[in-house]
Amino acid sequence: MTGQIQTLSGTHTSHEWFDRAQASLAGGVSSSSRLTSTGPHPYPLYMASGSGTRIRDVDGNEYIDYLISYGSAVLGHAAPELTEALTAVLHTGTMFGTCNTPEVELAELICEMVPCAQLVRFANSGSEAVQGAVRAARGYTGRSKILKFEGHYHGWSDTLAISNRPGEAEAGSYAMPRPVPHSPGIPAGVVDDVLVCPWNDPAALRTLLDAHRGEVAAVICEPIVANNACTMPAPGYLDLLREECTARGIVLIFDEVCTGFRTGPAGAQALFDVVPDLAVFSKALGGGLPIAAFAGQRHVMEPLAQGHVKHGGTYNASPLCATSGLVTLRQLSQPEVTKHIDDSGMRIMEAIRRAAHDHRIPCAVQGVGAMFQIVFTTDGTPTRHYRDLLHTDQARYHAFRHELLKRGIHTNAYGMACWFVAATVTTQELDATCQAVDEAFSTL
Ligand SMILES: Cc1ncc(COP(=O)(O)O)c(C=O)c1O
Repeated sequence: MTGQIQTLSGTHTSHEWFDRAQASLAGGVSSSSRLTSTGPHPYPLYMASGSGTRIRDVDGNEYIDYLISYGSAVLGHAAPELTEALTAVLHTGTMFGTCNTPEVELAELICEMVPCAQLVRFANSGSEAVQGAVRAARGYTGRSKILKFEGHYHGWSDTLAISNRPGEAEAGSYAMPRPVPHSPGIPAGVVDDVLVCPWNDPAALRTLLDAHRGEVAAVICEPIVANNACTMPAPGYLDLLREECTARGIVLIFDEVCTGFRTGPAGAQALFDVVPDLAVFSKALGGGLPIAAFAGQRHVMEPLAQGHVKHGGTYNASPLCATSGLVTLRQLSQPEVTKHIDDSGMRIMEAIRRAAHDHRIPCAVQGVGAMFQIVFTTDGTPTRHYRDLLHTDQARYHAFRHELLKRGIHTNAYGMACWFVAATVTTQELDATCQAVDEAFSTL
């Protein structure tokens, strides 16, 4: 958006804070994505408080929240069980920089819940944990190249911030995409070690792996591509990744930062019944506090366990964050909790489909109940890979999202991202959401 920005009705205090923020915070924000995630809303909304599935902005407007901290506040905002447990830690010391007992209990729980997890290491963010998994894979195989899929997001660090959202012209051919750094400042040497492949295309994958025989340390993917509007894996595609990696001695990494502990207690690897060598977790793992993990099969994690492969972090698994993870996973390990999340999301997905049908607007609603997105494709078919997303109607998505926001439904403004559902969502909130969806469609 260019020129003078307008204050939208009822949000002028957010506008004032954004004006003020720009004098001290670079761009007025603490993360580049917050600068672009406002959609047609010309300044970010400043949230003041939250409780359960509801959040309130600094002007007192209330929203039902389907961003829920990008999926992190999976138990809802200010969840009483978390508040109680974390308050106790605040009184006894949040961090000592030493080993602590909650981190052990949390690692044990992850090993119980997640099929691939025999050994775990903690970090503070998804980007860091991805870096840890990539280091482990390179250390284990002695190889340097990483194959990633065009459009998949694995964090902002140099290692894999490549071909996240390239334009079609710079990305080159569909079948052999050019690795495109996501930002100036990423050195060419790093980019040279990344191979980029289209998602859901077995032939393109085999061609790329054949061309780099013996060079590839890891194949990494988002098993459900949360950052490509929840594009799903084609039936059998994750099995194919497993087979190709096993046959070629390549470490298969599932980036479960979004899917982990959300799409079911054991994440996407259980949903699709494909066990990777390593998996990365964050978001739902911490229930809103900054903690992440990479976890994997013993043989791949062994060089790390032996101290040959290095990984560090002052803040890793502090008692505060480990306790938050423990309380959260104890809830999410109960299948009825993730079932409620999934069923609730499916109700909204159905409402969107019904409204689209009634108002004759072509679109696809893709993903699973726990995380999903609407894509305005010309013929209503779901997307198969990143390039499909470049041809969806983004203006219509923004209009839809904005109409929802006006009706008190808060979702990610970015069409390639997705809706996340919290465990606290109530029938009344779902009713209100479905009604807002129908009204929003009637305006499109
Ligand atoms: C799939 C995936 N991997 C990694 C990351 C990076 O996590 P963080 O933002 O905590 O660094 C994200 C963040 O959204 C993500 O969605």
